[in-house]
Amino acid sequence: MLRRTVWCGEVRGSDEGREVGVCGWVDGVRDHGGVLFVDLRDRTGLVQVVIDPQRSGPLAEAAKEWRAEWSVGVRGMVRRRAPGNENPRLATGDVEVEPAEAEVFSRSRPLPFPLEAADVDEVTRLRYRYLDLRRPALQANLVLRHRLTKAVRDYLDARGFLEIETPTLTRSTPEGARDYLVPARTAPGHFYALPQSPQLFKQLLMVGGLERYFQIARCWRDEDLRADRQPEFTQVDLEMSYVSDEDVMALTEGMLRHAAAAVGVALPGPFPRLTYADAMLRYGSDKPDLRADLAIRDLGVAFRGTGFRGFTGALAAGGTVRALTVPGAGALSRRELDELTAQAKEWGAGGLAWFLCGGEGEARVGELAVRSPIAKFLSPEELAAVLGASGAGAPGEGAGAAGPAGTTAAASGTAGAEAVRAGVGGAARAGDAVFVLAGAADLAATVLGRLRLWAMDRYQLRDAATPWRPLWVTDFPLFAWNAEERRWDSMHHAFTAPWDEDVPLISSEPGRVRGKHYDAVLNGTELGSGSIRIHRAEVQSAVFDALRIGREEAQERFGFLLEAFAFGPPPHGGIALGLDRLAMLFAGTDSIRDVVAFPKTARGADPMTGAPAAVAAKQLRELHLRTEVPAGGRAAGGGDARA
Ligand code: AMO
Repeated sequence: MLRRTVWCGEVRGSDEGREVGVCGWVDGVRDHGGVLFVDLRDRTGLVQVVIDPQRSGPLAEAAKEWRAEWSVGVRGMVRRRAPGNENPRLATGDVEVEPAEAEVFSRSRPLPFPLEAADVDEVTRLRYRYLDLRRPALQANLVLRHRLTKAVRDYLDARGFLEIETPTLTRSTPEGARDYLVPARTAPGHFYALPQSPQLFKQLLMVGGLERYFQIARCWRDEDLRADRQPEFTQVDLEMSYVSDEDVMALTEGMLRHAAAAVGVALPGPFPRLTYADAMLRYGSDKPDLRADLAIRDLGVAFRGTGFRGFTGALAAGGTVRALTVPGAGALSRRELDELTAQAKEWGAGGLAWFLCGGEGEARVGELAVRSPIAKFLSPEELAAVLGASGAGAPGEGAGAAGPAGTTAAASGTAGAEAVRAGVGGAARAGDAVFVLAGAADLAATVLGRLRLWAMDRYQLRDAATPWRPLWVTDFPLFAWNAEERRWDSMHHAFTAPWDEDVPLISSEPGRVRGKHYDAVLNGTELGSGSIRIHRAEVQSAVFDALRIGREEAQERFGFLLEAFAFGPPPHGGIALGLDRLAMLFAGTDSIRDVVAFPKTARGADPMTGAPAAVAAKQLRELHLRTEVPAGGRAAGGGDARA
């Protein structure tokens, strides 16, 4: 077989006069008056092979047959391209290879789609993923992912972490999604669960004295898929003994910066911090995208005492009135405003009020014309106060407010002061729109939070000068109220430690207990979650009680961990970062599937292998299983998997 001596993309002018062997795929063949120009491509790029019948004889005859995506090798001399024929867009654009020998390793059928075509549907691409993977863009993503993983490994290795594998045939873990189950042939009617994370095992490694653990860990969760979710995904999972939350955050931040640098991304630091309450209040999200200087404001003070019953009524009932000012949206048409209102209602709002600044408004604040269906309920002073408090036109208390730790004091209690500070007759600017809604605090927050993301896209409000906006969200409540089932759930998981001073509240006021829980967020995506864990039996019991996990159930589900905790467990904590999400963000794509070699579709199927698929009746018998659908039927997968 013809041997490769150099990668296609690495042939340079300094190789002039050298004999090389290059191997790869025929990217394209151009025939210029009988001289063939063949682009040969491998993982590193393209090199031009020039086959002149005058000089290469029979080889030129054979090469006329060559077609795209044939796998070939060429041995030949490197020479400089004739002046004027250089291609500055190629790293190899100064040179070409004149073959002395060529070998066709294999031929290719015509491709089912041109590799670079933009309009090929994703299922077809995934059905032929091995061809899709030949695209340089996809290869670059996988190279980036490799660099990222390697940087993580190096960083942690240098700090005393051990990479340790944990089982993937195990029991249900506590992350709360649906499990993927694996029937156990040797234990009829029993199942393994694929781990949703290595959570319990990493805690047991701390009990086992390993001190510092990490794993590039595959996890499985059967949940509704989105652009940033896959049913199987990878975590950079780590755990440390004898640490505080600050230690874990500092280590993680250093690791993230190191890994980012390895792929050419400079993450600014130190990461700012926001409390969960502030994040919800100002950005309507626990994973705020800080790339735009837009913050939600409280208009309670401005509306209280006005004649607009819709809002004063909501305030009297204990609700809030909150607003988002969007530069550029002042020019929205009536139809667009109606559509936006309908959208807000779909998100759960009762309605959406708006003030358009500039244009042809009938009301006035100083020089500024203002148009709003509710302006007629407000005196000129009240209208000025509303616009002042909304911060229309004024620099928001948005992204800039999330300064380093300790600078994020403004919380719910200061909202009134915020309104006053912004002042009556604030600098509302032509072109701004102020969107206002009334209702329960969390509902108003989340609806305006979604509106904020919509506005950031629509008006391109992200600040290009600061493309990377990481932050920590801290001070999460330990429990979240599950209104449907009328009970408390864990905000993170049942092993997250409460703040020491909040332990007495676990039984009396669970909603006020804060957890030692921290989330790493980058550009509006949750990168990872972690916490300091409970290591004292009585605290764990109190948390289980609040979650209404009975003694027997706790024993049944987590008995092995609780038992281990009877043998001198060290205080410990850790975090898990989504490696796929990290790679997705750094690669600049908006789908996690672009950084996974063989991803699943949104329906959890693999169009290439046809998984999930029906299995032979014999296999089911051996596993003591019977299905309620006929073999090959829809629910069993089969043909359905390609849909
Ligand atoms: P958590 O459940 O928050 O925490 O998961 C940690 C991170 O894993 C990533 N992630 C996903 N990525 C792709 N597809 C999915 N379906 C998916 N689900 C989660 C996210 C998320 O932030 N054991 C705890 C961590 C700990 O406490 O140490 C855990 O798994 O980036």
